[in-house]
Amino acid sequence: MKKDFLSILDITETELTGLLTEAKRLKALKKEGKIHDYLRGKNLAMIFEKSSTRTHISFEVGMNELGGHALFLNARDMHIWRGEEIRDTARAATRYVSGLMIRAYKHSTIEEFARHAMIPVINGLSDLEHPCQLLADILTIEEHFGSARDLKVAWVGDGNNVCNSLILATVLTGMNVTVATPSGYEPAEAIVKKARALGGKVQLVRKPENAVTDAHVIVTDTWISMGDEQEREERIRSFRKFTVDATLLRHASPDARVLHCLPAHRGEEIADEVMEGGQSLVWDEAENRLHAQKALLLRLLKNSG
Ligand code: CP
Ligand code: NVA
Repeated sequence: MKKDFLSILDITETELTGLLTEAKRLKALKKEGKIHDYLRGKNLAMIFEKSSTRTHISFEVGMNELGGHALFLNARDMHIWRGEEIRDTARAATRYVSGLMIRAYKHSTIEEFARHAMIPVINGLSDLEHPCQLLADILTIEEHFGSARDLKVAWVGDGNNVCNSLILATVLTGMNVTVATPSGYEPAEAIVKKARALGGKVQLVRKPENAVTDAHVIVTDTWISMGDEQEREERIRSFRKFTVDATLLRHASPDARVLHCLPAHRGEEIADEVMEGGQSLVWDEAENRLHAQKALLLRLLKNSG
């Protein structure tokens, strides 16, 4: 494996298969109440520039369950917030911990950390990607459908960081992704180009109904990602026909399942009846962050520091 996990494409198809197999094994061990301290003595520093519930909890609990320790660091309490250079922070951190998990506004911040830290750096969400989310999403899809290969996946909403990682994941999984966004909210062109150049199957459409028809999996996320708050009014107007509700789900098979990385904004991108309905896999998806990231931490941190 590469030293860092900044993009879902930082792992190969074979490495993804290995990680998911390991995640399933760790999940089963946990259900049996078995303790495993493979990362005893290892520390993970978690730097957050933005809010988090799932990423914070799942990484911290994941490290604890593997016998290691995690440190929560609010970036605003660190010297980087008042001008210390990232390269200096990264080099100092290298002397203390075995790995860094960073949630940042700019993807370039995480890349800069990765360039200067001698230890593994994990992207815990940036403006460009959310690769840890995709590990959990693919695990959830595999658990439910057996395999992701050739499944039709519909993305309904904003072409954001999670959408970008989903698009790139088509390269590793053989999923076929159709993205429905309003005009002006398409996923990054470079991401779509990259996925297609590497054999990923990605279509862009305008109407949610067209994406959802025949889909096995329907994925959505907030219309207003962290950092986009000042565009709230305009976004609410642009996305008003993009709610994943019971009416939209009628265009898909009753066997289709719904994913949402959370936090959800009920009544905006997802209706209450869908969140709570029988087609929702969102709680398994949230749980799977823990198992998938434990597998990732094991691979990356085992031989680090
Ligand atoms: N899905 C996700 O990353 O959730 P948090 O923002 O709560 O970490
Ligand atoms: N797209 C959302 C995901 C939150 C987990 C955001 O970036 O805010």
